[in-house]
Amino acid sequence: MESIKVFAPATVANVACGFDIFGFAVDAPGDEVIVKKRNDKQVIITKISGDEGKLTFDANKNAVTVPILAFLKKNGIEQGFDVELHKKMPLGSGLGSSSASSVAGVFAVNEILGKPFTTKSLLPFSMEGERIACGSAHADNVAPALMGGFVVIRSYNPLDIFNVPTPPELYVTIVHPDIEVNTKDARYILRNEVSMKNTIAQMGNVAGMIAGLMQSDYDLIARSMVDFIIEPVRAILIPEFWEVKHAALEAGALGCSISGAGPSVFAFSRGIETAEKVGMAMKTAFEKASIHCNGYVSGINCQGPKVIG
Ligand code: HSE
Repeated sequence: MESIKVFAPATVANVACGFDIFGFAVDAPGDEVIVKKRNDKQVIITKISGDEGKLTFDANKNAVTVPILAFLKKNGIEQGFDVELHKKMPLGSGLGSSSASSVAGVFAVNEILGKPFTTKSLLPFSMEGERIACGSAHADNVAPALMGGFVVIRSYNPLDIFNVPTPPELYVTIVHPDIEVNTKDARYILRNEVSMKNTIAQMGNVAGMIAGLMQSDYDLIARSMVDFIIEPVRAILIPEFWEVKHAALEAGALGCSISGAGPSVFAFSRGIETAEKVGMAMKTAFEKASIHCNGYVSGINCQGPKVIG
């Protein structure tokens, strides 16, 4: 095989109560990467689209190629590649844009080499893409983009990650307002200390969320979708956040919170019809304040990245 085209999905990180430890993949949007073998050892970015000229062509600094370079170096592989990156989602959106690129690149290279390594073993390399893009190698976007489904990062050191099954009727609505939030900034504003009271409340919700997902207990999922620690601080970065959340809950959502570092806002619903109704309500709330937005409705994507050409 000389060339391969791969899709890697957008992801929702944190999922209300699980800052840096919960994330799941969606069906769309996602990034596409084309990787072609070269006759030398170089890794070159030949084309980037959909980024409005914002991303670097420097392979040592772009989230799509940093994981590829780390993977090739660690495994002593001397094959070079031309890499095309087609961004199909906005940057700085809270949809795991850099993670989708990081995953698509290294997944494509492993596939084109005949899949010498397991998909899960590509995770530490993909995390290097996140580090270069956001200044922090958190895995709650990268892991679900790579492994699909709902992922829990039980530990970062050592890395310990597992999937949790999700109920069949669980749908997500994501609304992306047309503003940009830089993940580095959204992490910088967080407090370093958390009160005992909030820690206890948050731990209860983390446990409740996992049990709710595993038991298809939609009411338990709903009760667990409360973030005492991050959302109250970050809401300030998203105009109309509280109005949008209120609109989602009024329209029948199980819960609603910030997607990753924002500004996208996500809601869980039982059934696609409710998820679509929730999307309309959320968009209307943003648009009342003259904030243009895009919406997506999806089930939980259990596949993760896939070869599309
Ligand atoms: N857990 C990360 C955060 C996700 O909220 O900062 C964003 O990439």
